[in-house]
Amino acid sequence: MKNLKNLVYLFPLVLIGCSKGDFRESKTFAGGKIVSASTLNLGQATYTEYCVSCHGVKGDGQGTSAKGMYPPPRNFTQGIYKFANVVSGELPHDEDFARIIKHGLNGTPMLPWDITGEKLDAVIQYIKTFAPQTWEGSDKVLGTKFELPADPFGDVYRHQAIEKGRKAYHITAACTQCHRGYEVKEDISKFNQEINKVPLKPEEFAEDLYTLKLQDGDYNYKVVPPDFTFHPLRSITDVPSIVQRLMYGVNGSGMPGWKDVVSDEDLWAIAYYVQYLREMKDTPARYELINKIENQK
Ligand code: HEC
Ligand code: HEC
Repeated sequence: MKNLKNLVYLFPLVLIGCSKGDFRESKTFAGGKIVSASTLNLGQATYTEYCVSCHGVKGDGQGTSAKGMYPPPRNFTQGIYKFANVVSGELPHDEDFARIIKHGLNGTPMLPWDITGEKLDAVIQYIKTFAPQTWEGSDKVLGTKFELPADPFGDVYRHQAIEKGRKAYHITAACTQCHRGYEVKEDISKFNQEINKVPLKPEEFAEDLYTLKLQDGDYNYKVVPPDFTFHPLRSITDVPSIVQRLMYGVNGSGMPGWKDVVSDEDLWAIAYYVQYLREMKDTPARYELINKIENQK
């Protein structure tokens, strides 16, 4: 009798156990995308095979390998993402997820995954199910994408682009609000003279000009604005990919989008300058630059 009673209690649990994540119905996601139950089930199996150890069974980023990981794996229940090429705060397209999963995020434990075709599509759909409030419903819309503006410089005028970018980075866009400065104060003052017609007084330089200013962001951990001459960049491969990142920003990290805030020409110029800084990594030029900055009066 006692056993029978236990069974009565266990029975619903067993049922829930079996059906957990076992999709029986299709779902409609942002952009009107209808996804079948079998795709969601394939996505779940793919996720369990490749992603669960970091992103967790519940998609909350608390997988068994996630402990102490920095940056921590994304918590998919938040429904926010950093590196989609859409206006900050709007929803990624499937092609954004596909790019991120296939290329990984440089310098993090999120490696490039060799998942293609049906499985890739399925796992993308499955991770949306962790944030139903964000994804489910035919009223949800996908994010706005911009065309990549034409490169006004090209390889021939790369040097001019870097010189223009140097100034825009430190003055017009003031990227040093978060990232570090890479020029001595005497030169930054000259840039200001050129752009704003006045030199900078010594007291006008921020004390933390040459440090990285940690950002709170929306992901419950401090986000480091990278030093371009040192840190690997997550989503960057070449100059156009830097322009794209600048246009959209890094959603939820504090890094804003700059499209229409600075001119398209400045966007490209800054991107060439950031690429020039990246190429300094592990070269004597980097140590010369750091020394020059440390030894300035
Ligand atoms: C070894 C740990 C690990 C595994 C396994 C892993 N990831 Fe990640 N993933 C991360 C980390 C860490 C981040 C956060 C990187 C950051 O914030 O810069 C991340 C971020 C993401 C993001 C967010 C991208 C954005 O723009 O915000 C997506 C989507 C993602 N992972 C999908 C997957 C999928 C799908 C799989 C399985 C195919 C997977 N990950 C496997 C560690 C992992
Ligand atoms: C309000 C703070 C803030 C400002 C202003 C800012 N950034 Fe960032 N930026 C960040 C943070 C934080 C990250 C790191 C995001 C992450 O990895 O989660 C970042 C990341 C980046 C990245 C790397 C993206 C990647 O894929 O890893 C580039 C490139 C970048 N910033 C360039 C710039 C440039 C150029 C400017 C000025 C036009 C600028 N940022 C202004 C905070 C800022």
